[in-house]
Amino acid sequence: MNDALKNITQRNSHRNLVMPAPSNKEMQYVYQAALRAPDHAWLRPTSFIEIQGKGLEKLSEAFKSYAKENIDSLSEEQLKKYTEAPFRAPMIIILINTPKEHRMVPEIEQLMSTATAGQNILLALSSMGYGGIWRTGTFAFNDKVGKYLDIKKGQQVVGYLYVGTPEGKLKKIPEMKTKDFVTKWD
Ligand SMILES: Cc1cc2nc3c(=O)[nH]c(=O)nc-3n(C[C@H](O)[C@H](O)[C@H](O)COP(=O)(O)O)c2cc1C
Repeated sequence: MNDALKNITQRNSHRNLVMPAPSNKEMQYVYQAALRAPDHAWLRPTSFIEIQGKGLEKLSEAFKSYAKENIDSLSEEQLKKYTEAPFRAPMIIILINTPKEHRMVPEIEQLMSTATAGQNILLALSSMGYGGIWRTGTFAFNDKVGKYLDIKKGQQVVGYLYVGTPEGKLKKIPEMKTKDFVTKWD
């Protein structure tokens, strides 16, 4: 198996992510990988918000304001959880989908393109020894959250990629038998 395939088959999501985060130069490779996601009619529906340092505090404030203004019977415990969420990794990339009008390319195809860009990000990070995990939850696929993140109406938050250097014991890669998932017509 070549190194590219090894990277794909051994990629793992990581919950314990610490400093260092990838450098600006490394993130250039990551975004270039993301931007090679398949994209019907080259509509370029995908963009990213990269958050680090003080930006994590801004995201925490955004989650807090969203939660206070939109979640009924919000408990102190929930509010604490949401406020602390951005500090689980040294970097967060918000994956944004901006669907465009096109006679041949429905919105779902653009969403799928953005999702594959997300996977390319995780793969590029893993190839350089970094880790990540894709999270969604309360603050994704949510029409009201955009206002708190300064994104435009119609833009969708497809996920939050938590990024950093993996720490602790690595999760075992599950073994799956190819034959259980593949039907062949030949
Ligand atoms: C669209 C999407 C949303 C996800 N949302 C969450 C989430 O909110 N919280 C979480 O713990 N895992 C979430 N996951 C799952 C993890 O990212 C990860 O895939 C899972 O823990 C399995 O680990 P693996 O990728 O190493 O197989 C999500 C995955 C996808 C594709």
